[in-house]
Parts: sequence; structure tokens; C-alpha cells
Amino acid sequence: MEYFTLSNGVEMPAVGIGTFLMQPEQAEQAVYTALQMGYKMIDTANAYMNERAVGRAMRKSGIAREDIFLSTKIWASEYEKENAVEKTLKILGVDYIDLLYIHQPSGNYMAGYRLLEKAYKAGKIKAIGISNFHDHKLEHLLSECEIKPHVIQLEEHPYFSDTKTLNMLAPYGVRLMAWYPLGHGDKGLLNEPVFTELAAKYGKTTAQIILRWHTQNGTSVIPGSTSADHIRENADIFDFTLTEEEMASIKALNTNTRFYNPPADMEEKYAFFAIDLDSQP
Ligand SMILES: NC(=O)c1ccc[n+]([C@@H]2O[C@H](COP(=O)([O-])OP(=O)(O)OC[C@H]3O[C@@H](n4cnc5c(N)ncnc54)[C@H](OP(=O)(O)O)[C@@H]3O)[C@@H](O)[C@H]2O)c1
Repeated sequence: MEYFTLSNGVEMPAVGIGTFLMQPEQAEQAVYTALQMGYKMIDTANAYMNERAVGRAMRKSGIAREDIFLSTKIWASEYEKENAVEKTLKILGVDYIDLLYIHQPSGNYMAGYRLLEKAYKAGKIKAIGISNFHDHKLEHLLSECEIKPHVIQLEEHPYFSDTKTLNMLAPYGVRLMAWYPLGHGDKGLLNEPVFTELAAKYGKTTAQIILRWHTQNGTSVIPGSTSADHIRENADIFDFTLTEEEMASIKALNTNTRFYNPPADMEEKYAFFAIDLDSQP
């Protein structure tokens, strides 16, 4: 496993397993499988409603807590709740979180960010993340915050990169963790001839070529999968290196095309989507 060093010195694995859209029992099985296969990082979120299951898988794995990098996200409807971080710790069944994000630039996101700063100072979280921030809300957060974020999660894959946001964050050494690193499993992306050719050259799958491209760019990835074969192959990407020319040929696929295209007013609405964390099994 390769690691990236965050601006505060914390070591973050280059690859983890994502759990978006997984039912609790699926997430528990996928995370357990990944940990047995040597994964060191898990990404979940309040909104995925599977954090309790993720915590169960971590304990069932028998792997020491300090050998797992746990990343999760506070949902926007929780930002003004004083105990939102403690609640998340309790649901997961852990006493610290390696990387805690505020999930959306929605509602009172500064209140959410203050919760993260407070938890960071108290040692309850080891790194601070922001997710899906851009433009004026990102500017506002950067100007108001006391501790600069360490990581941002954004949609990122060979068809799309949010370079404007990444350029705004570059001066602070904020690391990118890509969501939809495989374009949410889009077959058109996975079957691009560039990837098929490189897969044949290196004896890898097209998904492995894409994930290697991300990590060689310095981007951390959290591909989601419930398939044991995919989980295994997604972490097996460190025994080959793409050439500069190959990296450039993948970059050239960028068409500025997102796979996630919510309506324009969705961002503000997120804060009104309440969740009941206690209701998850
Ligand atoms: N911050 C945010 O707002 C946000 C938004 C979305 C996602 N995320 C995070 O990012 C993670 C990744 O996103 P994602 O899971 O939606 O999309 P993704 O990782 O780009 O793609 C997942 C899809 O690809 C398939 N897949 C995985 N490995 C594969 C392989 N080796 N070969 C072929 N197909 C493969 C999976 O199906 P199988 O199950 O069959 O393998 C699944 O359908 C999420 O799980 C979540 O943790 C964050």
C-alpha cells in the first residue's frame, strides 16, 4: 500500500474502499472482505446510513484500530448539532476518526466546520475534510476557518477534474480524495481503448489502469465495490507504473463530463434532508 502525507503529517492510504449506496449488510461484508485483503482505508458517511455496519466490520476483522484509516462525513442537517461528532463516533463504535468531512456546502456549513476544528483540537479526529465545496462557499470557508482543511473529496475521473477548485486549494496543500474514481462503474469509461491497450500491456484490468492513474497523480481513491474480485483488484495496483506519455494520454480523455448532475438548487436543499442515524441496524 502506498501512502500520502497530509499537510499536518498524517499518513493517508492511497486506496480505500467506498461504501456509497451500500445497504448495511452489504457494507459490512464489503468492508470486512477489504480488510481481510489488506485494505487500510474505509470511506463512509452519516448519509450512507451504514456507519454502524462499517464499525461492526472493523471490529470483526480483528485488525487493530490504529491500522485502519477511517474516513466519514457529517451530513448537512447535523451541522448545527453540538454533539454531531460524538454521535458519529458512537454509531461507528470508535473513539477517534482519522478523517472527518463536512459532506456538503449546504446550510450552516461554517457551524459544521467549527465542530470539526473543535474535534480536531480534542484529538477526536486526526484530519479535517471538506467535500463538494467550490467557488464562493469555498472562498468563504477558507477565509473564516482557523485550521485549513487537509483533504477535499470531489468527483474526479478521467472524464472530469474540478481544476478550478483544486487550484484554489493548492496553496494550502489540500490532498484530493476522488469520488466516482471509476466513473461510478460507467462501462463507456471502463472500456475506453486507451485503458484496454494499457491493461493488455501491463497485464492489468482497465479499472486498475484508471486507479493507478489517479494515485500516480497524487490522488487518493475509494472505489466502491461489493464484489470480492473487484475489491481485490482495486488494491492491486502498485506493481506497475504508467509512463509520463501514458499519463498524458489518459489526461487527454477529459471532456469535463460529470456523472453526477443534480439540479442546481439541490446543494441548498441537502441541509433539509434530515437523517435518523439511530435507525440503522
Ligand atoms: N463525497 C461525496 O459526495 C461522494 C459522492 C459519491 C461517492 N462518494 C464516495 O466515493 C466512493 C466511490 O464512488 P462510487 O462507489 O459511487 O463509484 P466508483 O467507485 O467510481 O464505482 C463503483 C462502481 O464500479 C464498479 N466497480 C468497482 N470496482 C470495479 C472493477 N474493478 N471493475 C469493474 N467495475 C468495478 C462497482 O460495481 P461492483 O460492486 O460490481 O464492483 C460499482 O458499480 C463511494 O463509495 C463513496 O465512499 C462520495
